[in-house]
Amino acid sequence: MLDHTPDIAAEQNPPSQEALRVGELLKQVADPKRGGLAQENLVRTLREHSRASDRLGESVAVPGTLYSKTAENCLQDWNRTVTFLSAISSAVQTLAQRKSEGPLYAVDAGCGPFALLSLALALENDRIQVLAIEGNPASVERATTLVNNLGLSDRIHIILEDCTTCELPCAPDLLVTETFDNGLLKEQGVQILDNLAPQVGPRAAILPCEVSVECSLSSMSLPEAHMALGDIYRGCWNGDESKAVNEPLIAAGLLRGLYHLQLESSYHFPCGGALTSKIGSAISLKETMAVFRVLEDGASITVSHPPGEPYVYLESSPRGAVEVVHFIHCKTPRV
Ligand SMILES: C[S@@+](CC[C@H](N)C(=O)[O-])C[C@H]1O[C@@H](n2cnc3c(N)ncnc32)[C@H](O)[C@@H]1O
Repeated sequence: MLDHTPDIAAEQNPPSQEALRVGELLKQVADPKRGGLAQENLVRTLREHSRASDRLGESVAVPGTLYSKTAENCLQDWNRTVTFLSAISSAVQTLAQRKSEGPLYAVDAGCGPFALLSLALALENDRIQVLAIEGNPASVERATTLVNNLGLSDRIHIILEDCTTCELPCAPDLLVTETFDNGLLKEQGVQILDNLAPQVGPRAAILPCEVSVECSLSSMSLPEAHMALGDIYRGCWNGDESKAVNEPLIAAGLLRGLYHLQLESSYHFPCGGALTSKIGSAISLKETMAVFRVLEDGASITVSHPPGEPYVYLESSPRGAVEVVHFIHCKTPRV
């Protein structure tokens, strides 16, 4: 069990002027007119205030954690950022109505160097107490510096821990995590939700509550020959802990030529039985792919993703009918 217990009794200071400005920028980033400028200002402000000493080096000792520079860049995936911010805003408003007094406990699993989602939570409602967990010491130090500089240390409590194994000090009303780098194959968003989702309070909101990875195949010589093979992974964390891992996908009767296998991950926010039926929309990342050559007409390939593995596996039938050209997070054949 983590030894950090949120300080429920402590008087909360009103947010500093700079924190309020960050709150305004977070609201403006999706604005069609002012969004571009707000995005630039937000990046600059968070960078300035999160400058930490070089005392602590980068570490990716916890599997799946990112270097703080890499995690910092996630902010500028604006499709992702805007969707998470909007889901957080709706979820906090719903929770605040349902629990009309006392603290609202939130956990930001994998907060990164800007503790972006923690800031959005803490600035959405004065009653929020956030436990922000991060596995990279350099990101923990930067996020702590930032939160202190913004005067939000009585609302956001940052700790160094592995979210796949840690035990929470109390059951949160809201759990948010954005740890889905490279279509679930790098960061361990699935394992993180497997560990933390069962620890949330009754009727808590979990964002996202579902993640899926869709697999598709296209011929590079016949670009119009595009096959959606289906979901290679689908996991839900919607309170009943239901979870389904799909069977291997098979593409049969392939003609000779170069092929491109693409994995596209989406996360959804229909979230927790008690919340609004749809908060935010699905968003996707197109980052993981493989290029391979089919050497014989009529070959088939099987694509599978054993849960928790950092690779998708490709097998061909007949064996040896596929030649690897370029693989990212894919392996063949499976042993
Ligand atoms: C994709 S970044 C997102 C950062 C931030 N939440 C945001 O939305 O901008 C995910 C962060 O989670 C951290 N992380 C990944 N796996 C983790 C784990 N098992 N335990 C703790 N932190 C983890 C990474 O180091 C990284 O800083």
